[in-house]
Amino acid sequence: MTSTSPYRTRISGTGSYLPEKVLTNHDLEKLVETNDAWITERTGIKHRHIAAPEQATSDLALIAAQRALQASNLTAQDLDMIIFCTVSPDQVMPSAACMLQKKLGCRHIMAFDLSAACTGFVYGLSVADQFIRTGVYKHVLVIGAEVLHRYVNYKDRETCILFGDGAGAVVASRAESANDGTIMSVHLHADGSLGDLFVLPAGGSAMPLTQAVLDNDLQYVKMKGREIFKHAVRTMSQCAQEAIDANQMTIDQIDWLIPHQANLRILDAVANHFGIPNEKVIVNLQETGNTSAGTVPIALDEAVRDGRIKRGQHVLLAAFGAGLTSGSIMLRY
Ligand code: ACO
Repeated sequence: MTSTSPYRTRISGTGSYLPEKVLTNHDLEKLVETNDAWITERTGIKHRHIAAPEQATSDLALIAAQRALQASNLTAQDLDMIIFCTVSPDQVMPSAACMLQKKLGCRHIMAFDLSAACTGFVYGLSVADQFIRTGVYKHVLVIGAEVLHRYVNYKDRETCILFGDGAGAVVASRAESANDGTIMSVHLHADGSLGDLFVLPAGGSAMPLTQAVLDNDLQYVKMKGREIFKHAVRTMSQCAQEAIDANQMTIDQIDWLIPHQANLRILDAVANHFGIPNEKVIVNLQETGNTSAGTVPIALDEAVRDGRIKRGQHVLLAAFGAGLTSGSIMLRY
């Protein structure tokens, strides 16, 4: 999707936060039948961060948001909207976005949660882009944050090795000059027919929490890993291709690819599909595991802060997640 609007969206600042506690592969060896060598070889993951008992998702988001605001030279008062992308909000209601609005001390701006699992941040940034390009808002805070470890069964070796907690944030702002960065294209998809590949069965209206539900561990995520793997490679490659085609770009014009950090082999397969050299792929899953909606903004923030991503460079974001959802955003940073 491209636009003829006079307004364009740039990323004015980024921030992220990972909780202090680290869960290593060796820690997991004590919980389930697994080992560091298997996890490293099959996923690339070494560590994940785990929120402290008193930390909920909006607490992680608060720190990431404050860092993004500081990087943007803005204050919470400047914000016009908050989009909080998460599948692990503090509670069903009020929304994590409203909780964050209060914690940040914003004006009474519009704030809502967006549920698209690991594609959440890409969906959220595209919504921000719409409100900015139509001239409605100037500064939108987009959060991707999760405390997923509370939905993971530490008796299920297929899922517990993958997920971690963390928060990433960007302030999306109206571009003021032609030299400013800009979101160049957005491509989003969902295929509900593949919804059963990754589910959290209980805790919603279909299956409220009862003792029987808890006894059967239905409050935890369940995954068909091998099938998700296949669809992940296919959908992220398709979305990335759509972005490249829509912008009439060649692969060598892309400075950085930031894929959803699910599994190093998925990332390698996508990069190989396009012939993108490994040095151009931002990968931090060794340290973070899969933080769902958090992975793309956390990886973006880390690469901006350590100087890899520079103003004017082309950055391609690509994600897939439960739903199954998928999407890409091409931006000039
Ligand atoms: N440690 C040791 N052995 C294991 C482990 C483990 N943690 N987990 C599985 N195994 C075993 C299996 O039991 C199987 O044994 P078997 O051959 O005796 O049956 C063997 O290892 C191979 O299992 P596979 O499932 O084929 O392993 P695979 O290479 O596919 O890796 C994994 C599994 C890591 C889950 C991979 O399929 C994957 O990453 N899939 C994508 C998952 C994903 O991205 N999920 C997030 C969804 S996105 C979102 O919205 C959050």
